[in-house]
Amino acid sequence: MNGNKPTIVSGITTTGQLTLGNYIGAIKNFIDLQKDNNLIIFVANLHAITIPIGKEELQGNIKNMIALYYACGLDPNKAIIYVQSDVLELTQLSHILLCNTTVGELSRMTQFKDKSIKMKAENGTEFIPTGLLTYPTLMAADILLYDADLVPVGKDQKQHIELTRNIAERMNNRYQQNVFKIPNDFIPTIGGKIMDLQNPTKKMSKSSNDPKSFIGLLDTPDLVHKKIRAAITDSDGKIAYDPDKKPGISNLLTIYAVLKNITIEAAVKTFTNSDYGQLKTELATTISASLEPIQTKYHQLIKDDTIDQLIAAGAEKARYLANKKLTEIKNIIGLNYKRK
Ligand code: TRP
Repeated sequence: MNGNKPTIVSGITTTGQLTLGNYIGAIKNFIDLQKDNNLIIFVANLHAITIPIGKEELQGNIKNMIALYYACGLDPNKAIIYVQSDVLELTQLSHILLCNTTVGELSRMTQFKDKSIKMKAENGTEFIPTGLLTYPTLMAADILLYDADLVPVGKDQKQHIELTRNIAERMNNRYQQNVFKIPNDFIPTIGGKIMDLQNPTKKMSKSSNDPKSFIGLLDTPDLVHKKIRAAITDSDGKIAYDPDKKPGISNLLTIYAVLKNITIEAAVKTFTNSDYGQLKTELATTISASLEPIQTKYHQLIKDDTIDQLIAAGAEKARYLANKKLTEIKNIIGLNYKRK
């Protein structure tokens, strides 16, 4: 950790395998950000259990996911990547924050309201785990534990960052000192939003039930070609960028441009005289070429216990920082019994 660089904290949820959408929309940004920022990334498995989830599903993807992050180019010497449940300090801070948060604030969170309505509708009962209500304070602990400056999040999480700021400010006032740094949210602008291949007005999602709708980072070249060939376009036959009228083709052009590191205009130019078939073949080849080095690296990491070592080392670094900060906080609020 370098005190002169901004600290960025980001949590990722564990459902499904990582997609090309995650790579272009998030991971590629992280690779750029790790140069000039302290980057702290974790797999949010404690958040995953706020709604009922099976053991296999909870354990399943963590290792593969972290291996893929490293395979995409995150550097263990620059970024800290860990599994949330490995940092025990987190839940103690979460309790402290809960004691400075009101029931009203938590029950007003939009995501809590949405998720609890959905749970009622699904099982016909009113079984709402309290962990779902306190989800945002756990998230606040994730952020405040590392003195984060910036938190890259989607729109749906902005309200949780706002709450994090409120709790932090409240405690700073209450204890009359800077217990916490006040974090800001930011929506990363580089990269791009990649859409579902079968329904290009929807974001590409790893939790989709239709495997044809996304490219997995571990998809073989053959599978990539099949999925791109099956991607929904339109019957107009002209290659142009127009996300409203031609969402399918525009999405394919975006993917091509990002992976080739060129502008959308340049991508459109490349295909002026091509038909949809040619665009798709060229795109599928480009995607496979981009995935190949990632997959090679991934298989190296997963083949022996390299990934386990990386995960353990990440946890150790995170715990070191977390412990230092938590001790400071406990001293400030009086949760230390040694009197000086
Ligand atoms: N709630 C976030 C999401 O659903 C994941 C998350 C958990 C997170 N803790 C975080 C994101 C802390 C940023 C910072 O995407």
